[in-house]
Amino acid sequence: MIPQSFIQDLLNRVDIVDVVGKYVQLKKGGANFMGLCPFHNEKSPSFTVSPTKQFYHCFGCGAHGTAISFLIEYSGLGFVEAVKDLAQGVGMTVPDNDDRIPPAQRAEQQAKTMALSDAMSAACDFYRQQLRAAPNAVEYLKGRGLTGEIAARFGLGYSPDEWDSLRKVFPDYEVPALVEAGLVIDKSDEEGGQRMGRKRYDRFRHRVMFPIRNTKGQVIGFGGRVMDGGEPKYLNSPETPLFQKGSELYGLFEARQAIREAGYVLVTEGYMDVVALAQLGFPQAVATLGTACTPIHVQKLLRQTDEVVFSFDGDSAGRRAARRALDACLIHASDNKIIKFLFLPKEHDPDSYVREKGAEAFEQQIKEAMPLSQFLIKEVVGDNDMTTPEGRARAQFDAKPMLQALPPSSLRLQIVRSLAQVTQTTPAEIEALFELSNPVVQAVARRAPPPRSKRMAPVGLERQIVRLLVAHPALSSDLDDDTLVVVGHHAPDHAQMVTQLVEACRSMGEQANFATLVELLRDGGADFESLIAEIAAETEAESEFDVVRQEMAGAVRQMKMRQVEDEMTQLSIAGLRDEAAQSRYRELMQRKEHLKRLTGADFG
Ligand code: UTP
Ligand code: MN
Repeated sequence: MIPQSFIQDLLNRVDIVDVVGKYVQLKKGGANFMGLCPFHNEKSPSFTVSPTKQFYHCFGCGAHGTAISFLIEYSGLGFVEAVKDLAQGVGMTVPDNDDRIPPAQRAEQQAKTMALSDAMSAACDFYRQQLRAAPNAVEYLKGRGLTGEIAARFGLGYSPDEWDSLRKVFPDYEVPALVEAGLVIDKSDEEGGQRMGRKRYDRFRHRVMFPIRNTKGQVIGFGGRVMDGGEPKYLNSPETPLFQKGSELYGLFEARQAIREAGYVLVTEGYMDVVALAQLGFPQAVATLGTACTPIHVQKLLRQTDEVVFSFDGDSAGRRAARRALDACLIHASDNKIIKFLFLPKEHDPDSYVREKGAEAFEQQIKEAMPLSQFLIKEVVGDNDMTTPEGRARAQFDAKPMLQALPPSSLRLQIVRSLAQVTQTTPAEIEALFELSNPVVQAVARRAPPPRSKRMAPVGLERQIVRLLVAHPALSSDLDDDTLVVVGHHAPDHAQMVTQLVEACRSMGEQANFATLVELLRDGGADFESLIAEIAAETEAESEFDVVRQEMAGAVRQMKMRQVEDEMTQLSIAGLRDEAAQSRYRELMQRKEHLKRLTGADFG
């Protein structure tokens, strides 16, 4: 969990007009900025961005939120990623760990990560050293057309043909960090480890080693290739606290500069493809790590460049991998990004293709790669018979989840057009059938819906107070505890909500503002959400803070008045029999008169 104070600082530093303006063309109109809503299709602008509220709102479809929500909805990022993305833009660093973790434990975690990282880098140095002393491994790499320079750039190494060669690097071969880093394997006793007198042994033995680095250049894992026909061909590090295959790409660290220069990244399937392509004039290549391409991979790549070209083998496994990659790309597809798919002839991977046909032929293949839009249509048409209504219906059925995953954009519109054409319908029919202009469907297709509370929404005065407080959190300093008691008394069902709200407002201190409060109350339930929607939709007469304070004071006074009147009624019903009751009644009457006379920003 990211600390709330960080969210607050971030929202104070970021300007929503800049954030939204990157994706939506905005024009100044009065106090607000206006543009065409990116969350539904429209011809005249009903999307507004308020610099004072630091909030966006669409009068057409009701979409609204802060700069953080905008990124979540528009780019399909998760909350944490959205915060990281924004933070990066304003030069802030998101505090790493969960703020619920006690500092001591966090320090321990950091120490552990460091230990793993140190172990990996020591092992990497060792394997590199060993390569120089292993003529057969050097011969193998030369035989695959690699020069020493390229091998050095990728830090290639060799793991000796021994059970425990890492003992030379780690005199304390029994430390837990080695097994956690995936460098050694502990043989369980049942397997006879004890009897063989060798309980722990090196994972990588007699293999050419490919270190896997994260984007900071730290070694987080290894792939090791056999040099003969042994099995498995590649042995990989297991998933560890440092290394998650679903989010790491081989070669990304080494390729970054080249990706910028080429203007695109080439995604292959193999370690060797990356290294060989770098040797053959395509240093902008990376590879997934023997796993399917994930949305996290795609997001990582699109941070580096606006164009991603996937390369797949022409066989059926390659086709399946391509389809997985397509699915991973959908939520990140947008008008300013290009995603293409290259299908090599059967029996070829990029390495073998370039060696056989040459760099120019491969360059041509990259140029002619199939755009995402075309591949998507090709996939949904598939084996369906487009000459029959059933076949066309089936194609639409297959297309529906994919189109719902695509963020609203011109690209999506274009794809809807193509689909309409091949299925003999109209774009409008598809939009309606797939509920493409429904922001809820959009959100559901892209993430789980927020939980909704079943509590009744507040009404009347309490609602007015809550609404003012949400819109102007700084008002919380005017509400003393006595007032809160009155509000709680008047609206017992919502006392907790009001208290929570006031606490959140007070915690923000002087910088309290609407957008930050909305983020603090994220998932605060349906009551808050409907209030937020209402406030977002309010046109900006940008009432002076004093006017708002008077409004709040008026509502609080009325509520106090009600309480006084209630008590007076109770006393009359009871008959005002004793002296105490009568004197209390008189007191209440005076109080009522007093409250009546008050005006302006007096809270009573
Ligand atoms: P390939 O079998 O296509 O190998 O595996 P390759 O990349 O062409 O390698 P060379 O040219 O024979 O040396 C593609 C990727 O799948 C994963 C690796 O990441 C590999 O780069 N893989 C493959 C494994 O993890 N284990 C295996 O046994 C095989
Ligand atoms: Mn290969």
